[in-house]
Amino acid sequence: MLDSTQLERETTRTFNRLLPRIEQGAPDLISADPKGWHEFRARLERHFPTLFNLYLQLYGGHYDFYFHLEDLIKSLVQAWAARPANLRELDHARELNPLWFQSNQMLGGVCYVDLFAEDLEGVRAKIPYFKELGLTYLHLMPLFKAPEKENDGGYAVSSYRETEPKLGTMDQLSSLACDLRAAGISLVVDLVFNHTSDEHEWAKRAKAGDADYQDFYRIFPDRIMPDAYERTLREIFPDEHSGAFTYRTEINEWVWTTFHSYQWDLNYDNPAVFNRMAEEMLFLANQGVEVLRLDAVAFIWKKLGTSCENLPEAHTLIQAFNAVARIAAPALLFKSEAIVHPDDVVKYISLQECQLSYNPLLMALLCNTLATRQVNLLSQALATRFKINSGTAWVNYVRVHDDIGWTFSDEDSALLGINGNDHRHFLNEFYRGRFPGSFARGLPFQENPKTGDCRISGTCASLAGLEKALSEEGPNEVELAIRRIHLIHGIILTVGGIPLIYLGDEIGTLNDYGYRDNPAHENDSRWAHRPRADWERYAHRNNPSAIEGCVYQGLRKLIGLRKNHPVFATGNLEIIETGNEHVLGYLRLQENNRVAVFGNFSDVEQIVPAKVLQQYHLIDKKQLNGFSKISSHGDLILQPLDFVVLG
Ligand code: GLC
Ligand code: GLC
Repeated sequence: MLDSTQLERETTRTFNRLLPRIEQGAPDLISADPKGWHEFRARLERHFPTLFNLYLQLYGGHYDFYFHLEDLIKSLVQAWAARPANLRELDHARELNPLWFQSNQMLGGVCYVDLFAEDLEGVRAKIPYFKELGLTYLHLMPLFKAPEKENDGGYAVSSYRETEPKLGTMDQLSSLACDLRAAGISLVVDLVFNHTSDEHEWAKRAKAGDADYQDFYRIFPDRIMPDAYERTLREIFPDEHSGAFTYRTEINEWVWTTFHSYQWDLNYDNPAVFNRMAEEMLFLANQGVEVLRLDAVAFIWKKLGTSCENLPEAHTLIQAFNAVARIAAPALLFKSEAIVHPDDVVKYISLQECQLSYNPLLMALLCNTLATRQVNLLSQALATRFKINSGTAWVNYVRVHDDIGWTFSDEDSALLGINGNDHRHFLNEFYRGRFPGSFARGLPFQENPKTGDCRISGTCASLAGLEKALSEEGPNEVELAIRRIHLIHGIILTVGGIPLIYLGDEIGTLNDYGYRDNPAHENDSRWAHRPRADWERYAHRNNPSAIEGCVYQGLRKLIGLRKNHPVFATGNLEIIETGNEHVLGYLRLQENNRVAVFGNFSDVEQIVPAKVLQQYHLIDKKQLNGFSKISSHGDLILQPLDFVVLG
């Protein structure tokens, strides 16, 4: 290990050795654009110490470290040279306004290209709809070339540079990115960098016996190492294959496959893998992608004798990718997908690592609170786990394409007298509709027969009770279900961070059981909440007497509320002790602005006592949302499942 003075000296020395070699290697690029080169060079110089330090930590033990470092810097130069002028302008704009995403105007949406709009041209045709809804961020689910039959909804990537042919071409993607940007919408796509599909060129070469490419993956001749690793691993997709390895007959070897057997985990111990993935990443950035959702971040580094999740090197690795982006595509942001313990989720969030992060805890606890009608866990989480570095932001959501795992912390729940395991069991039973009185129509996902554990699939509307209410109950329950949908969306829209809508939820889309007839999907219940968009139903979105209209209009109103009040952008959140176990309360504060939010999670009327309103200086506030009334004693009376905003 070098001490900091030595490190500084070696950094400077390495940079001074490298730069002339790099410049000599790219005379044409430099002379074609001396001003651009000057800017690039300045960024390289500024961020080199960070990149060098991280790369040294990861790969300093390799005898050919310097070779790989030089190779990486050369790739950065190539990526810079290929970066279109409009994106270089964006780089400048973002460097001047790095907190652009911390605005109450921000609103995210996510959809599958084919399911939402057939293909990329179809997505382009939906831009007016995105604007109507108010989106400023659009995550298109994996749209890259993938194996024909099973491909985990595109999360098995066969080429990062080619789109799935039926969706369109890479050129169409980059021109879509331009059109979206012109409409004020940033394009987000996945970087599925933990694994490739077994049909990726790298995997094909590995299968053909090319030793260089075998080193791209984690391949073992027998069970000795797999057994040794598995002693400390968790099973991620236990009903697909047990353990983390798959035996491949064509090579007679065991391949590390954390997820499906056709998703081969990459070997980031190998610096060549880092370098090649950095190229793929910058290629996507140069297509106009503004945010990369880093898929499955928790799993990217492996070490014998550990859980191989959330290892310190995983952070070093992402930080190194971040440094790469700062040099060659500074507008690019990362969003981490770490669906793990909340202590681990936050470790991925920082300016140097992922500026954005899914907030799986909030998602899980919104569902939890709907089921229990008790706000204790949610309120505790907002009080203790919500605050993150002021330069970063949560992406808050109620549903996405994945299952719901109950990722709250057992230590937190124990403080409230709740046993984590028992409670998860209850939640699974509740959301599968097996608990007496449950309103939910969810499905188990990856049920583990050994532990009895599972996670939950289902659309927001079906989980919130709309499916059951429509098929077996009546208008009263329908109304309650719609209020649940609005209540949890109201929270993600006002709590701070970037709200993300899983498109389809805004019109109350129900589970689609058709996946059971599709051999490529029948074993994956997540397809129940990945239905094809029904544009006939969307046509009813402005009809107040249609279900779609009720859900959509209510949501539009909440979006309007967010967009009209800058207090919902950044600023602080302070929990209100509401004196009522069913009512969540928080203040949003920004300079002299002070807005209070109350959510009644109970199916019956609830009261927040007058003294609470006094204590938080809310007496003279206007009701910006909701149907609450003030009683003759000055108490706030909330309607069942009402979402009340006072400001
Ligand atoms: C992420 C995706 C999920 C996928 C997994 C493997 O968790 O969200 O859909 O199955 O990664 O890529
Ligand atoms: C992700 C998560 C896991 C999630 C799964 C996708 O990587 O870690 O909790 O359920 O993959 O389904």
